[in-house]
Amino acid sequence: MNRKPFALANWKMAMTIAQSRAFVGEFLARAGPYLDTVEVVICPPYTALAAVADALQGTPVAVGGQDLWPGPGLAHTGAISAELLADAGATWVMVGHWEVRRRLREDDGAVNRKVRAALEGGLRPILLFGEAAGEPFDPGRLVVLLEGCDPEAVARMVFVYEPEGAIGQTEPVPPAHAAAGCRSIRRWLAERFGPEVAGQVRIIYGGSVTPEHAAALLASPDVDGLGATRRGRDPAAFAAIVAQIAAYRMSIASPKL
Ligand code: PGA
Repeated sequence: MNRKPFALANWKMAMTIAQSRAFVGEFLARAGPYLDTVEVVICPPYTALAAVADALQGTPVAVGGQDLWPGPGLAHTGAISAELLADAGATWVMVGHWEVRRRLREDDGAVNRKVRAALEGGLRPILLFGEAAGEPFDPGRLVVLLEGCDPEAVARMVFVYEPEGAIGQTEPVPPAHAAAGCRSIRRWLAERFGPEVAGQVRIIYGGSVTPEHAAALLASPDVDGLGATRRGRDPAAFAAIVAQIAAYRMSIASPKL
């Protein structure tokens, strides 16, 4: 199955509108040659979403929200819906990031409601999950996280294997750990949804990714790309990560899995 590799920049609660526009200009100049090979999604803060979408018009780079409200209604002060994200230019939305889970005390059922709200609102979910700090990884949590999702929708999602303890560190987890996490997600998806769906889904690693660590993390055919925050806000570093993803993809003799 020939999957397009994937790169995610989650800017969290940073980047003014001016900084966001400057990022886009420099990133496109540096990453342009790789954008046919690698699918890139940038998730700015809500305040910069429309500006980033506007600056990316006519390019293959897409934007996403960092979170969304899990249902209908208007009386949700401070929250954002799939409809408003799409109106600002988003086509993707992140769901399940550890920081959001902890802040909102969300369990897997709450994250599932967000996945479904994203799909119902026409956004493609980027589902982040991994083990809590100090615990083993259990891909079986996908039973709840993907409840009510049909195979076609799952095939169009992106999964980010992101162990909680790997976020904001000086180094990512060892490459073998990242690969094992991604592989176990794909195996679970193959058992539940069949090999065709599992073969289409992009599964990437996130957590303290840097350009220096990218090649080692990408060496396994189980890792379809990388996500970054601190290095995802730096246009030179993020372009270097995208270049590594492109180089890895072009270097493999046969398509993965
Ligand atoms: P980091 O953050 O790349 O700065 O470690 C990753 C994340 O929280 O998604």
